[in-house]
Amino acid sequence: MRIAVITGASSGMGRESVLQLNDEIEAIEEFWLIGRRQERMEAISALLTKRSRILSWDLGDESSFSAYGELLRTERPEIVFLVNAAGFGRIGQVSELPLEDCLGMCTVNVRALTAFCRISLPYMARRSRILNFASAAAFLPQPRFAVYAATKSYVLSFTRALNQELLGSGCTATAVCPGPVRTEFFERAETTGEIPLYKHLFMADPRKVVRKAVIDAVLQKELSVYGLSMQLFLALSKLPQGLLLRVLHCITGRECAGD
Ligand SMILES: NC(=O)c1ccc[n+]([C@@H]2O[C@H](COP(=O)([O-])OP(=O)(O)OC[C@H]3O[C@@H](n4cnc5c(N)ncnc54)[C@H](OP(=O)(O)O)[C@@H]3O)[C@@H](O)[C@H]2O)c1
Repeated sequence: MRIAVITGASSGMGRESVLQLNDEIEAIEEFWLIGRRQERMEAISALLTKRSRILSWDLGDESSFSAYGELLRTERPEIVFLVNAAGFGRIGQVSELPLEDCLGMCTVNVRALTAFCRISLPYMARRSRILNFASAAAFLPQPRFAVYAATKSYVLSFTRALNQELLGSGCTATAVCPGPVRTEFFERAETTGEIPLYKHLFMADPRKVVRKAVIDAVLQKELSVYGLSMQLFLALSKLPQGLLLRVLHCITGRECAGD
């Protein structure tokens, strides 16, 4: 049985990945949809032309990692696509954020993604693809989004190194690094603080970001960066980061306002 495994399938870019893979990748016979909101995944499942299995797991609870391993050992599928889209961010100074949120981002964004890659690898074959959702936040440390940006730097670094390790196997890993995207992400991120206004100027369409990500994965690219503005940001991030951080502080008004 050839399957696609998608974490964060209940909304945003995970949901969009499910729909686009269903339409574009003939080889997939079954989807495994992972997230907490069962009813959302049932609604997505009803739109698919392939079979699907809904796994309502909380990836903040590490017992979900062993449940996934156990299921693979029982079913022994071939994983054609693994999409790690589950993730969340909380805006605010580290000193102001609840500890639970800081550690939750590390668990879902880093530990779950690492676990799902590691556990999936023995079930991947030539032409299998891994799509890991990092972020343009991976390119530069982000004050008031510090933990989130650091988790995404991990995802970018991990995915690029994994892709090198996979050379010659026919299986590849792609890090997806979008800037701000119009999904539920910011509603959740803003429960602890407001996003800087300039980010609204760069909001991308999730369908377009995922379309590019799937094409880049098929083309075996290590990095998928949607849009000219984020490609420019990537180039800019090669400049001395201390200087860039001062500019960022000024744009967000915090340093200029004297705090
Ligand atoms: N939107 C952006 O601006 C943006 C930019 C760059 C990168 N990203 C990254 O892209 C990925 C997708 O984000 P999105 O924009 O599509 O956001 P979204 O609409 O909020 O989707 C996030 C997904 O992650 C799942 N998730 C969160 N915590 C979970 C947990 N504890 N257990 C299981 N699933 C969990 C959610 O499912 P449940 O709530 O049902 O569990 C949801 O399906 C994330 O990794 C995000 O960091 C987003």
